[in-house]
Parts: sequence; structure tokens; C-alpha cells
Amino acid sequence: WKTLDDVALAGKVVLVRVDINVPMEDGRVTDMTRIDKIRPTVEDIIAKGGKVVLLAHFDRPKGKVVPAMSLSHVEKAVASSLGRTVVFGADCIGPVAAAAIAKAGPADVVLLENTRFQPGEEKNDPALAAEMAKLGDVFVNDAFSAAHRAHASTEGLARLLPAAAGRLMEAELRALEAALGAPQRPVVAVVGGAKVSTKIELLANLVTKVDHLVIGGGMANTFLVAEGIEVGQSLAERDFAETAREIRHRAQKAGCQIHLPVDIVVAREFKAGAESQTLGVRDCPPDAMILDAGPKTVAALEAVFASAKTLIWNGPLGAFEIEPFNKATYAAAQAAARLTKAGSLISVAGGGDTVAALNAAGAAADFTFISTAGGAFLEWMEGKELPGVQALMT
Ligand code: 3PG
Repeated sequence: WKTLDDVALAGKVVLVRVDINVPMEDGRVTDMTRIDKIRPTVEDIIAKGGKVVLLAHFDRPKGKVVPAMSLSHVEKAVASSLGRTVVFGADCIGPVAAAAIAKAGPADVVLLENTRFQPGEEKNDPALAAEMAKLGDVFVNDAFSAAHRAHASTEGLARLLPAAAGRLMEAELRALEAALGAPQRPVVAVVGGAKVSTKIELLANLVTKVDHLVIGGGMANTFLVAEGIEVGQSLAERDFAETAREIRHRAQKAGCQIHLPVDIVVAREFKAGAESQTLGVRDCPPDAMILDAGPKTVAALEAVFASAKTLIWNGPLGAFEIEPFNKATYAAAQAAARLTKAGSLISVAGGGDTVAALNAAGAAADFTFISTAGGAFLEWMEGKELPGVQALMT
């Protein structure tokens, strides 16, 4: 794929697909990360003499105009993050969009309306992509986190204009390549979260690529059940015990070591401050549920991390949203951050929950790379080709 260094930008109108699908509460942006991360691309294009026109989706309006999902609600946040005047166009195609582009000065940034207000966006309708293409001369995709969607503004448009990856897209692809493409070994992957059923493809791919696979959260319970260990009232997918055994088998054949909890934190209620006990992994009482991994598990993970050169992380180790069940996730995250800071580990993490947990643990800043992507990060870890990235290759 090409980068901003490979395309002529001077005097061009540059359509830049960004992902500013940010969380909002009461009309205010509650996490600016995705908006802040578009700055290098925007600044670079302006410095090279291009006019920046932002194309983006917001939420899931499903091809209809839903005023609450208008990108006008993030216009101010974009302007303050970039420190530039933002000219909003209340459509992403046609005369309204063209007028906004014409009105903007060379140092301004144009923000066009939610691409998903168009029924053709999610269908990757070539007619819609052609309408968008008419507005500019060059296409830059900086939305790695939306690259798993083959939509008109991510995939279609890349095929109609000279196309390049933006700086954030470039950074994401390089970091992920360093973690799983041609990584420094040993590589350890941490995969947590509630369900094995939603992460089968991920586990099946990872065991062939990494040296250690740490399984945490509710998923670990299913693996424990597969070993004949009783987990009481814990979340576990008993129907997937056989799948868990197959994944273990596949891992063994590929020389990947699977790590499960050796001790557990259990409670009788799933609520903040619930009375909890730390027990051996085989000692879960029939009326209790496992809500976190225990300190021996964390110590074992720290040893695995210390022996590794690369770490890739998706999913928490316990019910980290409520205390005291955040301990294992936080402690493991802090250990990874320390090793990264000391220069002995390359650490990459992604996924909404994971990034929230690493932030809450105060560990995110020391990770080598934190992806802005949720679904795209997962699909990439599953070994899938991302259409938004593929389209930049041709
Ligand atoms: C995300 O938030 O992961 C991206 O913006 C993609 O959003 P989507 O899942 O609605 O396609």
C-alpha cells in the first residue's frame, strides 16, 4: 500500500476516510482518542498543500437520516482537537458537499455528513462511491478501525481514485505486522472475554501463530469444564467443551502452550464489592461463580510475559468492570507495561473493553501500541483480510 509520501497532494482535494465513531453522552464526546489520532494525517496533507475533506460514519443509522447520529454533533470536538476551522457539509455527496468544499479555505478542514445516512454505503454501492469520488482528486484511508467493512467510503472509493493509507492506518498496520506478521519470539497472546463461541476463529488462528496463549475471563471457564473441572455457577459454554478440546489439540500440534487460571476469585453474587474468596482452580463451590483469576495465576502470567518478546492482548482476564474483580486484569496489564517500559517486550493491544481496562489500570501509556480498533482488530487477529486495507493494495 501507498502512504502519504507516495501520492501527489499539492493543490488536490483529498477525501480522507476517518473513524470518528466516538462514544458520546448527553451530546458530549466522552473519549477523544479516535478524533485526536487523525491529526497527523490531516496536518501532513495540509502541509503538502492538499485540502482535507473528512468522510466518516457515525453509529448505525442503517441508510436513513437519523438526526441524533449526525456528524454535526462532533464538529466542535474535531475543530478543537485539530485547532482548525471545520466547515460542515450536511451531506456526503452532491451540491451540498461540493459547496462546503468550495467554501473551505486551504487551512480549513471539511467534515461531511455521516456516510451511513446513504443507503448505498453499507451495500458498497458503486454509484454512491462514484458520487463521492466526484468530490475529490485523491483518497486517503485512515480508518483502520472501519477497515473490516467493505463499504462505499472504505472499499469502493479506494478503487476509483489514487489511494493511500493515512498515518494512523500506517501505524496500525505496522504495529500489527510487528506483533503477528514477523514478530520477535516468543510471542504471547492474551485472549479474554466472556465467550468461546464468539472467538473460535480467533483462538484457532492464534494457536498456529503464537508460542503462548493465555485464556482468561469467562472463556477460561469453558476450557476448565473441558478438562473436567467443576466451575459451579460460573459463566461457561458447556456445549463448547469439545471445541475447547479441539483448540487445545491444535495448539499442542503447533507447539503453542495454553495457559489457564491456576487459582480463582469466586463470589456468590455478581456485584461491586461482593464478598469474594480466592481458591484453587479445582475448588469452586457449586453455588459460587468465578469472576477473576487469582494471584498465583497473575504471577504465572508475569513469568510468561517476562520470557516473551512480543505480547498481543485482546479481552480482560476477569469481570474487570466491577471491583474487586479487576485485580488480575490490572496486575497483568501493569506487568506488561513495566516490561515494555524496560524495553524487553513489544506490547500491542486492541478492542474497546481491553483498551478501557488498560487505561483504568494506568498501563495503556506504556504499551508499545494501542489500536483504535475493536471489530477490525479482532478480524485482523483472526487472520482475515480487511477489505478496506485490501483495496489500498491494488
Ligand atoms: C467501530 O467502532 O468499531 C468502528 O467504527 C466500526 O463500527 P461498526 O461496528 O458500526 O461498523
